[in-house]
Amino acid sequence: ALWQSVISRVVPTQVSVKSLQPQASMFKVAILGAAGGIGQSLALLIKMSPLVSALHLYDIANVKGVAADLSHCNTPSQVLDFTGPAELANSLKGVDVVVIPAGVPRKPGMTRDDLFNINANIVKTLVEAVADNAPDAFIHIISNPVNSTVPIAAEVLKKKGVYNPTKLFGVTTLDVVRANTFVAQKKNLRLIDVDVPVVGGHSGITILPLLSKTRPSVTFTDEEVEELTVRIQNAGTEVVEAKAGAGSATLSMAYAAARFVESSLRALDGDGDVYECAYIQSELTELPFFASRVKLGRKGVEAVISADLQGLTEYEVKALEALKPELKASIEKGVGFAQKQE
Ligand code: NAD
Ligand code: LMR
Repeated sequence: ALWQSVISRVVPTQVSVKSLQPQASMFKVAILGAAGGIGQSLALLIKMSPLVSALHLYDIANVKGVAADLSHCNTPSQVLDFTGPAELANSLKGVDVVVIPAGVPRKPGMTRDDLFNINANIVKTLVEAVADNAPDAFIHIISNPVNSTVPIAAEVLKKKGVYNPTKLFGVTTLDVVRANTFVAQKKNLRLIDVDVPVVGGHSGITILPLLSKTRPSVTFTDEEVEELTVRIQNAGTEVVEAKAGAGSATLSMAYAAARFVESSLRALDGDGDVYECAYIQSELTELPFFASRVKLGRKGVEAVISADLQGLTEYEVKALEALKPELKASIEKGVGFAQKQE
């Protein structure tokens, strides 16, 4: 849907009059960390959405130029820039969706958890401002380590008395995007047809692609399952190593985050058929946070698709049990951090 809307604006002469019927632009989206690698590309993709009326770009530096540049695109949304803590509150007023890619990325040799000390504070500060200024917004957390930053965000929102678990999401869409790409390549399928649910968390073995639940139904050898699972789990590191010190995934992440934003806006717009994987507060397992497929609606998560965890293969059952201690520790680390703060 995102690219249909993009193409209909970029190449209007090649599409039918029907597909050019104007859609109302009615939602406001804020990006916190908008001048960064993910933030800039994500801002461009969201600027192309016909559902967006205003795009608020916040960062601690360099956001004026990004906003000036982007504002010249002849797509409907108005672009506004906000720089530094003094302008943070205003960047959030009246916003429907807040996307948070602020923070430092990995370098080769680091784990996502190595980012905890810096990014935990950044996420805490930003979510406090969201609680004060946009308590009803959907909150999309991209900053790593997602397994811990989402529990931190939940604690911050609880302290502020505005926690709504159905509207807080850790963005794991990139894991799904990667799984779909790698499976389509391996099995010679059309990319557009492939959908692999990815559950658990967003780091190493906590990323669990449920290959047995791939749609359309595909059979894999044991070797293929092992190879694909490990590649999907290590795909972030694959990019970090290829970038060799210049950061982590930004373009594929922006693509994935734009998909999740577009899905959220469609849900807010009343589309009753929106499903995405996301890391949320969950009762699907004994862990308090867990990524799974969810149905999105106007109020956020409308249903958790529990059927994905039924009828798993032996490999998936073992991998699910194996990821739990690491994910539990990351959740507890996030909660512990947030509860220690005054
Ligand atoms: P980047 O360094 O290019 O950009 C980060 C931006 O955040 C910078 O513009 C910086 O000025 C800004 N920033 C720092 N502190 C801030 C604050 N207090 N308030 C507002 N903005 C602030 O990094 P990037 O490549 O865009 O990655 C950002 C984060 O996203 C990293 O933590 C990375 O690990 C994570 N990430 C997550 C996923 C995922 O799948 N969830 C994928 C890729 C990257
Ligand atoms: C990713 O999966 O690409 C991100 O989480 C960034 C990283 O550090 O790998």
